[in-house]
Amino acid sequence: MRYANRIALVTGAGKGIGRATALRLGAGSAAVAVNDINQAAAEEVVSEICSSGGKAMAVPADMSKHNEIVSMIDAVKSKFGDIDILVNNAGGSCSALGKFVPFLEQNDQQLDWEIAVNLKSAIISIQEVIPAMIEKKYGRIVNLSSITGVVGMPRIPVYAATKGAIVSLTKSLAMMYGEYGITINAVAPGAVATRPGMEKLGEATFLKRACSADEIAGLICYLCSDEAAYITGQNHLIDGGRTLGTKPEDGEK
Ligand SMILES: NC(=O)c1ccc[n+]([C@@H]2O[C@H](COP(=O)([O-])OP(=O)(O)OC[C@H]3O[C@@H](n4cnc5c(N)ncnc54)[C@H](O)[C@@H]3O)[C@@H](O)[C@H]2O)c1
Repeated sequence: MRYANRIALVTGAGKGIGRATALRLGAGSAAVAVNDINQAAAEEVVSEICSSGGKAMAVPADMSKHNEIVSMIDAVKSKFGDIDILVNNAGGSCSALGKFVPFLEQNDQQLDWEIAVNLKSAIISIQEVIPAMIEKKYGRIVNLSSITGVVGMPRIPVYAATKGAIVSLTKSLAMMYGEYGITINAVAPGAVATRPGMEKLGEATFLKRACSADEIAGLICYLCSDEAAYITGQNHLIDGGRTLGTKPEDGEK
C-alpha cells in the first residue's frame, strides 16, 4: 500500500480538504492522526477510516494555540510514533470566526488569530516533527496555501498575506532540510466546493466549475507519497486555470 508503515498527521481534518486527505491516507494504509478543533468531526473521520480497515486516532486541538499543538503532537507520538507525513491544512479567513470583518476594522485579536491559524500553526507543527524526520532521513510535509497568496485577494488581504507567507516558508525549509530526505511543498487551491459561494467562483475558471475537496486531496496525497520523492520547495497551483490570462475571444480558439 502507498503509505504502509507511515504515520500521518492532518490538521483541520474534520471536514473539507483535510477530511478528504485523511481518508485517502487511511485508505493507503497510513496510520492517520486526525486533528480538528471540532472533536466530534475528527472522531467521525476516524470511525470512517477504521470501519474501512484502516488505522486512525482523533487528536482534537485548536491549531491557533501553541500549547495545544505541542500536546497534540506528543499524543500522536505516544500512540503511533514519530510523524512521517504532516499536512498543515487547518486554516481560514477571519470570517471563519463567525462574521466577516472588513480589513480596516480588524482588531489585534482577529489579526493574531488569522496569522496563528494559517501560518504559525504550520511553523510550530514543523518545528515539532522535523527533528525526528531528520533522524529517520525521511519526511513529507505539505502546507496548504491558496491562489490568494500568489495573486492577492481583495476583501481578505490578511488571509492572502498568510498564504503568501506559507509559500515562502515552504521554499526556505525545503532548502534547509532536503539533504535529509524531507520534501516540503505547498498546495495552492483556487475555489474548492467546501464553502458557500465557491461554486459561483468556480464558474469563472476555464473548467467552469469549482474543484472538489477530493481533487485537492489527490494532489496532496501524491506529494506525500514515495513517488513524489524528487519534488520539493514548490507551490502547486490547482485552480482550474483561474490564474491564467484572460479568456480567448471566439475567433482565437
Ligand atoms: N475552500 C477553498 O476554496 C480553499 C481555497 C484555497 C485554500 N484553502 C485552504 O485549504 C485549507 C482547508 O480548507 P477547507 O475549505 O477544506 O476548509 P473547511 O472550512 O471546509 O474545513 C476546515 C476544517 O478545519 C477545522 N478548523 C478550523 N479552525 C481550526 C483550528 N483553529 N484548529 C483545528 N481545526 C480547525 C474546522 O473545524 C474544519 O473541520 C485551509 O487552509 C484553506 O485556507 C481552501
